Formats: sequence, structure tokens, C-alpha cells
Amino acid sequence: MRITSLLSAIPIREPVHPKRNNKLKSLAIVTAGATVFYAGVCVYKGNEKFYKNTLMPLTRYLPAEMSHNLAVLACKYKVFPAPRQPDSQNLGIAFFHKKISNPIGIAAGFDKQGEAVEGLTKLGFGFTEIGSVTPEPQPGNPTPRVFRLVNDEAIINRYGFNSEGHRVVFERLSELKNVRGFDGVLGVNLGKNKTSDSPIADYVNGVKVFGPIADYLVVNVSSPNTPGLRDLQGKKELEQLLAAIVEARNSLEVNNKIPILLKISPDISKQDIKDIVGVINKKTCRVEGLIVSNTTIAREKLTEVELANEIGGLSGTPLRSKSTQLIADIYAQTGGKIPIVGVGGISSGQDALEKLEAGASYLQLYTAFIYEGPPVVTRIKKELSQLLEERGYKNVQEAVGKQYKNYLSK
Ligand SMILES: Cc1cc2nc3c(=O)[nH]c(=O)nc-3n(C[C@H](O)[C@H](O)[C@H](O)COP(=O)(O)O)c2cc1C
Repeated sequence: MRITSLLSAIPIREPVHPKRNNKLKSLAIVTAGATVFYAGVCVYKGNEKFYKNTLMPLTRYLPAEMSHNLAVLACKYKVFPAPRQPDSQNLGIAFFHKKISNPIGIAAGFDKQGEAVEGLTKLGFGFTEIGSVTPEPQPGNPTPRVFRLVNDEAIINRYGFNSEGHRVVFERLSELKNVRGFDGVLGVNLGKNKTSDSPIADYVNGVKVFGPIADYLVVNVSSPNTPGLRDLQGKKELEQLLAAIVEARNSLEVNNKIPILLKISPDISKQDIKDIVGVINKKTCRVEGLIVSNTTIAREKLTEVELANEIGGLSGTPLRSKSTQLIADIYAQTGGKIPIVGVGGISSGQDALEKLEAGASYLQLYTAFIYEGPPVVTRIKKELSQLLEERGYKNVQEAVGKQYKNYLSK
């Protein structure tokens, strides 16, 4: 009796009419189709808001390293469209032996294996730096090794130079240059193997292998994720290292004028700056430029306190002022005589201009690209071009170092 009354209380569902069912299905298909079409148009048109507020947040449902790999693949297969406008005239600048149409490059660490150079150039970067590349292939640190601090617009990574090694990357780049005729500016960032007992030989090897095909080489002694690497920034160690590298470069049969840039850490003291500048001022150790800076091991200005404890190098917004200050300090110490590539937390035209005015001649970014996607490049270029005009600078070169005194460390 009770059961029957219970059963009678359950509402009986009307069987869905086959015609209504078909209508619902069609509606769902049309809606999904329209959404995909709309998303496709937004991606194709480089819609900044769509990337920043929809597409890039969606990629955050994937583990950070997986979405990094997917982003590299998307660039490799040139999924993203090229910007529709050419770069403004006032962004053009000479880059050592070549000319570039804008001063903003993609920093090392995004395209570690040199797979996506053409795609990155197509996105509107003025130059591309690949690596760090180690002599022998090595897997890097165990995963997880990349962390997004979304609220801080920052990343902590401890990849530890996962690299396919000189041979594989060299073959890839040779094909790019010699078969595909790539003629953009290509930098190769050199690292050392974790277990190497001769770091100097590792870098010298890199110069010999990549010197003939790259447009510039980077001596990376500033990643925090390879034990002992940053000790190579010490006065004596750096002097020995750079002397060997410069000699190897000078002895190249092809391209023996290739510029060598030293990439330094933001976690150095004023005395370290003096020592580094002292070393690179020596004729035997003279490099053609500095990249300022790599990621920091400091943990200032972070709101994502749990992730802040992850070991590794911090990049993005929290690094911005620290790297700008270091650029100004180095600009002052060198009297503006050595070109600086400014990198660390650039995500707007204003950030870019600050780094130029602090003393950088060229700029790079990485973390903002991860958070905002390809439209960030076009936006920063547009904002920078406008700001240069507003401040009365005819071109990028005119802005270099103009306000360095305002950014010096206290
Ligand atoms: C995930 C990740 C990996 C990186 N790997 C390298 C690397 O292999 N070699 C290197 O010199 N710098 C590496 N960097 C540092 C960047 O080149 C750059 O100096 C730093 O991220 C600061 O710029 P940003 O704030 O625009 O990201 C890496 C950065 C990130 C976020």
C-alpha cells in the first residue's frame, strides 16, 4: 500500500517526442558550431580580450608544462595569425649586424629546442632566442617543475635545462637557415650539462657548434635551477669562462664576429655588478652585450603564498622593478657603452618604455606571453610606439638610458 502511494508520488516523465529530441540536438549542434566558429574568428583575428579572458584562462585547466608544450606546438605549426599591421617606423632599430622592425624578442626558455622560430617570428617578435641548450641531451628536473601564480601574473620554474642537446638542435636550426632560408634574428642561449665536470668546455662547445649559424649567442650563467651555475658569475670564474668563450668565437672559421651576450641574475650585489663590469671591460673577456635579467630566487610581493614556496626561478610582474633597477645600475656602471637586453615582467608599453629609459636597447618577454597569448606582442608594440611619440622620442634608440637615474637602486 505504502509502496504504491510512494510510486504514485514520483512524477512520470513524458517520453520525449522524437521530433522534439531532434530539434534539441540540432539546437545543440548549431550552438556548438557557432561557439567554435566565434572562437575561431577570435583566434584568427587575434582578439586580445578573447585570448586574455577566455582562451588563456582555459589553458590553465591543463598542467602548466603541458600548456607550455601545446603553446610551442601551436607556434611551431603557425596556428596563430600574423599581425595585420606592419610595425611602426619608430620601433625599428639596428640589432648588431642586422636590422629589426621592433625591439621586442621572445626570451629564452619558451622555445628551448628551437622548434618554433618561424612561428614566433610570424607573431611579430623582433627577434627570437632559443634554448638554453646543453651539449648532451638531458631530461631536466623531475615534474612538476612549472607553477603558475595567476594572481601575481608570475611563474616559478625549475625546469633545470631540459634539452635535446647540441646535435639535435643544431640540425633543426641548420635546416631552418639553410633549407628554409629563415633570415630573422636568431639567438642561441647556451647552458651546461648538470653533471658536466668542465663547464667551460660546455660553453666553448656551444660557441663552436652554434657560432656559424646563429645571429648571437648567450652565455647563460644565471639560471637558478642548475646547481653551481650561478657561481660562474664570480669574478675569477667569469674571467676564465669569458676568456675561453671569446677566444673560441674569434677562432671560428665562419661568423667570427658573432655577438656574445652574457645573461645575468637579478640576485646580485652592487659589488657583483662592479666585478662583472670589470671583467667584461677586459679586452680578452669583452662580450658585446648583457641580458638583464634571468629569473629571481627572491620571493617578494607575492600573494600566492603556498606556491611561493616552490623552489625555482620567479618571473613576471614581481620581477619587473628588480630587473629595471639592475638595468639602470649596469647602465650607470658601464656608462651606457654596452648594449643591454632588458627582460623581466614586461607586459605593457609602459613597462617596455621604462626598461628602455633605464638603459636597455632591446627587450624580451616570456611570462606575459603565457598569460595573454600572442596579442600581447601587438599590444605592447602599439603602446610603446604611441608612448615614444608622446614623449618626443623619434625612435627607440633615442629613449635608451634617458631616465636611468630615476631607476637606480638606493
Ligand atoms: C618557464 C620558464 C623557463 C625558462 N627557461 C630559461 C632558460 O632555459 N634559459 C634562460 O636563460 N632563461 C630562461 N627563463 C628566463 C626567461 O628567459 C626570462 O629571463 C625571465 O622569465 C624574465 O622574463 P619574464 O618576466 O618576461 O618572463 C625561463 C623562464 C620561464 C618562465
